[in-house]
Amino acid sequence: MATIEQSVRQTVDLFDKCRRFTAAREMMDRGLYPYFQPIEESHDTEVVIRGETKIMVGSNNYLGLTHHPYVLEKAREALARYGTGNTGSRFLNGTLDLHEQLESRLAALMGAEAALVFSTGYQTNVGIISGLVGRGSVIVQDRLNHASLLDGSQLAVGELARYAHGDMGALRRVLNRHRDANGILIASDGVFSMEGNIVDLPTLLDMKDEFGARLLVDDAHSVGVLGPNGGGTAEHFGMQDRVDLTMITFSKSFASIGGAVAGPEDVIHYLKHHSRPLIFSASMPGSAVATVLACLDVMEQEPQRRAQLWENAHYLRGGLNDLGFDTVGSETPIIPVSSGDMEKTFIFWKALFDAGIFTNPVLPPAVPENACRLRTSVMATHTREQLDRVLDAFQRVGRHLGIIGGAA
Ligand SMILES: Cc1ncc(COP(=O)(O)O)c(C=O)c1O
Repeated sequence: MATIEQSVRQTVDLFDKCRRFTAAREMMDRGLYPYFQPIEESHDTEVVIRGETKIMVGSNNYLGLTHHPYVLEKAREALARYGTGNTGSRFLNGTLDLHEQLESRLAALMGAEAALVFSTGYQTNVGIISGLVGRGSVIVQDRLNHASLLDGSQLAVGELARYAHGDMGALRRVLNRHRDANGILIASDGVFSMEGNIVDLPTLLDMKDEFGARLLVDDAHSVGVLGPNGGGTAEHFGMQDRVDLTMITFSKSFASIGGAVAGPEDVIHYLKHHSRPLIFSASMPGSAVATVLACLDVMEQEPQRRAQLWENAHYLRGGLNDLGFDTVGSETPIIPVSSGDMEKTFIFWKALFDAGIFTNPVLPPAVPENACRLRTSVMATHTREQLDRVLDAFQRVGRHLGIIGGAA
């Protein structure tokens, strides 16, 4: 039998892997580490980092509402009325009248019977899937769905099945295999966050009807962006009455933080009483809720913002394509730029950063080994002059690194 001393010595220290994790420190030592950049000031389309101003083309602030005077005023009013936090979950002491107002407004926007507000978009997805997909049920997901949808499957007790990105034949095979399941939920991003392409919603809807499944569309990057009223993917296709559940985040077009699900009243009622991320986490503060309500007002009153967003997206994507960059099939204000392997991507990112342009590197496992990207996203408030500076920097750096042709 092992002595106490031996068994202590043989025990694996959980922290060992942390000491062996050197990849990030190596990039820091080389001055190429792109993450956790501390923003000292934010001025909508520009940010200040270590005293230097950068044009922000890495944000999800699509409508440019984080600094809108009306939105700021409404947030301040709510801060004074409700204080800084709710110190409790929606279930207990953390529901405000503002949460309920927001739920009604969102249900109307999404053409749904009801909606339920969570504290983050991430929690919303985890809360919907883990709340609904029980024993014997199956959750079917596009392989490129956002991590929060996949993580929701980890908390759910049902089975996870995945299909290749956008491959409706593969989806059909998965659904066929699970015909006898105790209920099926198909989940898909409406706009894929690393690709900027739009899901083939009509086919997805036909398929879910054929197999008697339910469909959850993650509209994090669609609401405020797609559809005549900014109602998202289903509104874009004119199919709001056929989608079962829509998930929304407030961390993008709505200039805040939080999330919601819209759908049939009985499903929302069920989730209110069965969704652990809702019940066991503190609710969105009043100022954050008031921000979203104010953004909904601005969306209605200033539809030209969405038009400007799309004009800017066409301009930047067209400019990048004309320079010879591969924008990976982007169809929306999310415009990824193909950058090759990881090493080249870090160097590309740093050169643009030094030139005053903030982008986001996208690396494996989010994309395959040699298909890394710099993800850019456009805002309604970017000026033409700013977008031209972005294009100019991309051209100089892209040529220098041999990503596009032409003299450096
Ligand atoms: C497609 C998608 N779904 C869900 C989320 C999670 O939203 P949040 O950041 O509001 O928690 C994100 C945000 O990154 C996203 O891109």
